[in-house]
Amino acid sequence: MMERILITSAIPYINGIKHLGNLVGSQLPADLYARYMRARGHEVMFICATDEHGTPAELAAAKAGKPVAEYCAEMWQVQKDLSDGFRLSFDKFGRSSSPQNRRLTQYFAGRLADNGLIEEVSERQVYSNADGRFLPDRYIEGTCPNCGYERARGDQCENCTKQLDPTDLIDPRSAISGSTDLEVRETKHLYLRQSQMKDQLDAWITSKTDWPILTTSIAKKWLHDGDGLRDRGITRDLDWGVPVQKGDDVWPGMEGKVFYVWFDAPIEYIAATKEWADGKGLDDAAWRRWWRTDEGADDVRYVQFMGKDNVPFHTLSFPATIMGSGEPWKLVDYIKSFNYLNYDGGQFSTSQGRGVFMDQALSLLPADYWRWWLLSHAPENSDSEFTWENFQASANKDLSDVLGNFVSRVTKFARSKFGEVVPEGGSTAAEDANSPDTPGHWLVLAVSQNIALYEQHMENMEVRKAANELRRIWAAGNEYLQEFAPWSVHKENPDAAAHIVRLALNYIRLLAILSRPFIPDTSAAILNALNVEDTNWLRFNSGKESNRINALVESLSALPPGHAFTVPDNLFRKIGDEERVEWSERFAGVRA
Ligand code: MF3
Ligand code: ZN
Repeated sequence: MMERILITSAIPYINGIKHLGNLVGSQLPADLYARYMRARGHEVMFICATDEHGTPAELAAAKAGKPVAEYCAEMWQVQKDLSDGFRLSFDKFGRSSSPQNRRLTQYFAGRLADNGLIEEVSERQVYSNADGRFLPDRYIEGTCPNCGYERARGDQCENCTKQLDPTDLIDPRSAISGSTDLEVRETKHLYLRQSQMKDQLDAWITSKTDWPILTTSIAKKWLHDGDGLRDRGITRDLDWGVPVQKGDDVWPGMEGKVFYVWFDAPIEYIAATKEWADGKGLDDAAWRRWWRTDEGADDVRYVQFMGKDNVPFHTLSFPATIMGSGEPWKLVDYIKSFNYLNYDGGQFSTSQGRGVFMDQALSLLPADYWRWWLLSHAPENSDSEFTWENFQASANKDLSDVLGNFVSRVTKFARSKFGEVVPEGGSTAAEDANSPDTPGHWLVLAVSQNIALYEQHMENMEVRKAANELRRIWAAGNEYLQEFAPWSVHKENPDAAAHIVRLALNYIRLLAILSRPFIPDTSAAILNALNVEDTNWLRFNSGKESNRINALVESLSALPPGHAFTVPDNLFRKIGDEERVEWSERFAGVRA
């Protein structure tokens, strides 16, 4: 049955180009899932955007010597081009600074206020005498009161993920000047009374029995440990951000303040869908059917992808906004969260420029090499680590020796013996299916279980397991050639060799379709060489095993005798030892 699936990836901060750890922590696996679901015929809305407000953007713009609006517009384009380069298939890559998000954020704040969930609080806030200004969240660094990490920021400790208030930090200092000449002054702010929603949120999280442990354990920790769900300030003394308004009305006393970036950022998921509709000249119904359960979204399945440090905001703060609105906005149905990818014995670090960044990666090798390595090593059950040795070894083995080699051997052999058409002769795949020890029977037996598992893992967003299964499906091609050795059969029995080759060519078509979510460019190159336009994914896993086998047999005869093909250009090149050493040295240091 066709379903409607809404997929959002955590929206990357605007300040600077993202590293491969960021990419594999949300956008890339979200893309894998979106591509798979589209291929299965579902209606997908896949949303991402840049997270443009708050202090990181202001700091980065100041460093670049540009007005913050201009800086953000430029960096949005840079990030957009890189996500295109990695073939991230967003339906919309929006901007949290969009007018759509401004309106929606102000709208939600108004709803929350009308429902008595906003409190005006006189707050004691850190003021820096040296900098002559209030220092909100990230402008302050200090020691985490929870774990002792010395470079915790005022909003969150990067080390233990604890959400913090700047005044919690031990030995605080200004991130702008490094000054410790700080004092606490009074200023008025809006607080979201999320403590009022504790029971509702708790019941909601508890009902999510199918969520990954990583997701629910973090949510439960914040619900039950100490002050996890205390009321939080949702406004800041900054220029850059969504101006504080109650819907369309001014908010007395809040002049000159903006909403906290973590308040408006998740609302951008909704706003970006409106940006999508507006960009296409569609009416409000077109985006609201994804987001309003009273306007069609009741049959939408909503899946979010994010790194583990984002989980508290998506399991508690954003749902508090949605629930607190008292309106039927769509809540997330499933959260897929990731651990961290480390870089060569340490951490990727944007601030320290450590690791490989998206632009650098694409300058070394095409996107599919990175997509394959990152997805097949996604940090799902624990942190994982990028090393150049491992990257070289997996790319050379999986992509070049296994997949590339199979495609090349089959197409070249077929061309040399039978010309550039699928050869005729021998039995059909359907005949083979019922007769043991035939090539078709062997192939079906070898892979039907793997394909079923592959599909199951893709449905369940088990990224690594899916990659492992896909690798086995690729490898079965070479095992098949080993088993039936068409080059030796050909001398005695050209018809039998033609049959083996015809199945192999059809198997290549199937591999290209199955591999598409992981390595879309390679898949397209193969399908193009095979002159295949129809890439419909047969419903291998639907129902009984016999149906699955029938579907597989059918797909092994999709390219009939006489169908023209060409030998594709070499699909993957090998990564040599010298360049590996050169790259690992080049990226060991600090990004220029
Ligand atoms: N910009 C945040 C980060 O990179 C993620 C924001 S996700 C959203 O950690 F929910 F706020 F949109
Ligand atoms: Zn900590």
